[in-house]
Amino acid sequence: MPDILPVHLAIIMDGNGRWAKQRKMPRIMGHKKGVDVVNKVVRHASALGIRYLSLFAFSMENWKRPGDEVSFLMRLLDEYIEKELKTILRENIRFTVTGQTDLIPESTRKKLLDAVERSAGNTGMVLNLALSYGGRAEIVLAAKKIAELVASGSLKPEDVTEENFFSCMFHPEIPDVDLLIRTSGELRISNFMLWRIAYSELFFTGKLWPDITEQDIDEAISDFAGRNRRFGMTDEQVGDI
Ligand code: FPP
Repeated sequence: MPDILPVHLAIIMDGNGRWAKQRKMPRIMGHKKGVDVVNKVVRHASALGIRYLSLFAFSMENWKRPGDEVSFLMRLLDEYIEKELKTILRENIRFTVTGQTDLIPESTRKKLLDAVERSAGNTGMVLNLALSYGGRAEIVLAAKKIAELVASGSLKPEDVTEENFFSCMFHPEIPDVDLLIRTSGELRISNFMLWRIAYSELFFTGKLWPDITEQDIDEAISDFAGRNRRFGMTDEQVGDI
């Protein structure tokens, strides 16, 4: 494995439906297989020493899917927490959820929040599950908080900065994304982590999420390690920092 690891690895897990369709199975079977891959990738990322792993598990737009599929995904989430919490705690992983969790059915939300609380003292990898998440919605919520601060007189409009704006977003302790992987061959961002991907390296693979292996993650990280990240500066300037 290369010495250079992304501090924050984010993944758009796409292609569960197509994986199932290829096998003439209902879409939900693709999601079921997708959870096994989530487990493998979480363990692998933690063993590699990744500090933050964000997984796009359910978008704001996913609420528009057929009711059956939405309920199935919520049930899968329930089961995921029930089965995996032990591993999360044993592996010293801190579990966080990013998104508009108030929209998640109460029983599932309670389990998620319980996992967040019980793992809050862990010092290993942060597993950040993006649920009921939209990148634009996150930015708008931050803008509302800033507007409230300005309206109450605690902040002057001219004092709004990228730093204090970012501090109003979900989990400001989670840094920018270094490497964003999207599976299934789609070359889109789909409203994921819009603020934090400003300078991310992007890696697209044609493989469907249920087919992803640890080696695929290693391949994306090796590719990332060979990238020349300049953050808008020149090679010489980057060499100096
Ligand atoms: C995209 O595939 C995947 C999703 C919308 C959900 C991702 C969910 C999982 C991997 C399983 C649940 C995760 C946890 C942690 C419980 P798609 O349905 O858009 O596939 P398609 O583009 O081929 O139709």
